[in-house]
Amino acid sequence: MDTQITLPTFDVERVRADFPILSRTVHERKGKPGKPLVYLDSAASAQKPRQVIDAMTRFLEEDYSNIHRGVHFLSQTATDQFEEARRKVARFLNAPSERNIVFTRSATEAVNLVAHSYGRTFLSEGDEIIVSVMEHHANIVPWQLLQMDKGIRIRVVPVDEHGVLDLNAFEDLLSDRTKLVAMTHCSNVLGTVTPAKIIARMAHERGVPVLFDGSQAAVHGVVDVQDIDADFYIMTGHKLYGPTGTGVLYGKYDLLKKMPPYQGGGDMIESVSFEGTTFKAPPARFEAGTPAITEVIGLGVALDYMESLGREAIAAHEHDLLQYATQQLSQVDGLRVYGTAPGKGPIISFTLEGVHPHDLGTIVDQYGVAVRVGRHCAEPLMERFGVGATARASFALYNTRAEADALVESVIAVKEFFGA
Ligand code: ALA
Repeated sequence: MDTQITLPTFDVERVRADFPILSRTVHERKGKPGKPLVYLDSAASAQKPRQVIDAMTRFLEEDYSNIHRGVHFLSQTATDQFEEARRKVARFLNAPSERNIVFTRSATEAVNLVAHSYGRTFLSEGDEIIVSVMEHHANIVPWQLLQMDKGIRIRVVPVDEHGVLDLNAFEDLLSDRTKLVAMTHCSNVLGTVTPAKIIARMAHERGVPVLFDGSQAAVHGVVDVQDIDADFYIMTGHKLYGPTGTGVLYGKYDLLKKMPPYQGGGDMIESVSFEGTTFKAPPARFEAGTPAITEVIGLGVALDYMESLGREAIAAHEHDLLQYATQQLSQVDGLRVYGTAPGKGPIISFTLEGVHPHDLGTIVDQYGVAVRVGRHCAEPLMERFGVGATARASFALYNTRAEADALVESVIAVKEFFGA
C-alpha cells in the first residue's frame, strides 16, 4: 500500500491575521499614508501572535501570582501553568522528560550557565572547547571568560566559501584534550544548518559532550534532542514567537545532576543555614529567584501555536520563501549573498556593491522594509568573509512572496539612488 504524506495546508494570509503588528504601517507623514510593514527581521526577534498576547494578558488579569512558593489558590494555579509550559517545551524538543528543561532568561544566559557550572567544574587548564567560526558572540564570549578563568583553549572549525562547516577540520580538532563541543545548529548570519547528529556522533566517539545553540534552528524546523543525541540544547523564546525574557536549556539529566548551581537565591535550595546550604535537584537548582512567569507561560502558548500550524508546514513555507527571495535577489547586479549552504535556513545576508549596508538598511526602511544590518553579533564570521557588515533579511512563518518582492524592489531603489 502506498503511503502518502500530506502536509497541513499553510494559509499564510490566515496566519498573518494572527499577528496584529503586521497590519500596521510605518513612516506615516503629514498628508502621506505610511508604508505597509514588511518585517524581515525575525532572526533578531519574531513578532507575537494574538494567541500569545491574549494568553499573557489573561494570565495577568486572572491568574497571576508567584510560583512554587504559595499554598494559596492563585499560586497553585500559576505554578500549574508554569510547569505545563515546561512540559510543552519538553514535547517541542522531544526531551525525555520535563526534568531536562531549565528555564533561563535568554539563550545567552543558558550558554553562560553551562560555561559557569559545567565549564568551571569539569574543565581545567589545557582542556579544549571546539566552536565554529559561525558562532554568535553568545556562544563565544562565555567560553572566553572561562578561558580567562581556567586557562582552557578554544579551537575553531572553519567554514568553506558557501558557509558549509568543515567536518574534516572538526575531526582533526577533536582530540584527547577536547572536553566540550559548543556549536551553532543554525547560523544567524549565513543560515547554515550544521549536521548536528553527525557532530554529536563524532564528538561522542571520543566521549566529548556537545552543546548546540539552537536559537535560530528550533524556529525553522523540527528539533529532536534525543535523535540528535545532544547533551545540551539551547533555545530562546522571543525567536519562537514567544516573549523576551525566556530562554531554554535542555540538558541530559545525568549531566545536569552533576552540575553545581550557577546562581544562588530563592527556590533553588532545599535548606539554607549559615552552616551550609543544600540545593534542589535540577531543573530547580538552576532557576534561582522569581522567573519570568507570565513570559514562560506565553512561550508555552507560542509553541502550541507553532504546533497547531505544523512545524513541517512552517518549514516548507519558509523554504519556499528562501528559494524565491534568493532567486529574485540574485538578479540584482552587484548583490552578493553570503551563505549558500545546501539546506540552509531562511536567512539571507547580502551586500550591494558600492553601498554601505547601513545606508541600504536605512533606505529600504523608508519603503517599510525592516532588515538587520551590521555584524550580527558574529564578528569572527564577518572577518572570515572579509566584510565589515552585511544586510540580513530573515523570513518567518508570516512572510509572503510579495514581501520578498518588496525587499527586491527596495534594494533596486537603493541601487538607483546610489547609481551603484
Ligand atoms: N541574535 C539576534 C540576531 O541574530 C539578535 O539578530
